[in-house]
Amino acid sequence: MRKEFLPFSTPAIGDDEINEVVDSLKSGWITTGPKVKRFEEEFKAYVGSPFAVPLSSATAGLHLTLLALKIEPGDEIITTPMTFASTVSMIILCGGVPVLVDIEPGTLNIDVQKIRERITPRTKAIIPVHFAGQSCDMDPLFALAKEFNLAIIEDAAHAAGTEYKGEKIGSFNSISIFSFHPNKNITTGEGGMVCTRDESLAEEISLLKFHGMSREAWKRFAATGTPNYDIMLPGFKYNMMDIQAAIGIHQLPRLDGFIERRTAIADFYNEALADVAELALPRYAPYDQLHAWHLYTPLVRIEMLAIDRDQFMAELKKLNIGSGLHYKAIHHHAWYRENLPQVEGSLPNADYASYRILSLPLFPKMTDEDARDVVGAVKEVIVKHRK
Ligand SMILES: Cc1ncc(COP(=O)(O)O)c(C=O)c1O
Repeated sequence: MRKEFLPFSTPAIGDDEINEVVDSLKSGWITTGPKVKRFEEEFKAYVGSPFAVPLSSATAGLHLTLLALKIEPGDEIITTPMTFASTVSMIILCGGVPVLVDIEPGTLNIDVQKIRERITPRTKAIIPVHFAGQSCDMDPLFALAKEFNLAIIEDAAHAAGTEYKGEKIGSFNSISIFSFHPNKNITTGEGGMVCTRDESLAEEISLLKFHGMSREAWKRFAATGTPNYDIMLPGFKYNMMDIQAAIGIHQLPRLDGFIERRTAIADFYNEALADVAELALPRYAPYDQLHAWHLYTPLVRIEMLAIDRDQFMAELKKLNIGSGLHYKAIHHHAWYRENLPQVEGSLPNADYASYRILSLPLFPKMTDEDARDVVGAVKEVIVKHRK
């Protein structure tokens, strides 16, 4: 058994990130300022988006996007149950009605074929989530959006660096929302970015993110700014700080290398675990895409074992291997069980995955030996608890 605990994820922070944060702290400009602007410009250039709005989180991005799209009480938003709570919670908090469509069992992405039958005259938008960093099938989604005049809001929390048919997520005619939480493909501590081709939408989100002050209001204490400001509309406080962007500026050039390393580890897992009947391994989508491998999420075939998924994770922990849970499907959580009772039983693939899924360690700093330890521990737990 390995001596040290291996967490399921840990960020790769280098000296450049640390020195840049120290530089911000020493400069006296800690909050939103020139480094946020630089990170915005560089992120835009990386994904190929004409407009981007840096924020305090992807959750803030989902919230402001739905507000900027003027979602009204009763408006329906189609999304996946296999996501983090905030995708669906933001719909609720904006007065919308989440319409959950089942997932496709191989990729665990929303099953695009099942969306059409759930579109009604109240449907306003679709929120596909690029699960684990693998792109949803965007062409049929854009076709539906065009046919029914719907907005596409890509929850790209897992998808910094992901590509669909040779183009980066963030570059399409939609709204894409990225997360820079410490477990994500790159981090700013906490943080998010909304990318869009729609200038007026970017402007509206930008106003909403900082008290409704005009876009360049952050400059008001700088030599080039003016201390006076105007409130254009009531807004939130969802701005990214310079000490966050300082980290992001040095993470972004490392992103492609991070993805290469993540892919090498995922490919190793796929090969080393291929003959384990008790696991259903994540599958590549059949269309052209570049998987960013944010997560490696096998399903444990619990019917073949004497333990359930939670016990499986506890057994891994005893062997000093951490794991994560992405996700217990949203409709299995207490509030949603009570408030969306009609959903029960209608999402069989999400139900199946929800009881069986776990995230094995996957992060760029992992060594080959770490990955071999994970495989060894997974096999040991299975052999011990096989029925
Ligand atoms: C799919 C998905 N959407 C949204 C979020 C929210 O991101 P943030 O933590 O930056 O608010 C997360 C974060 O885990 C996520 O995984």
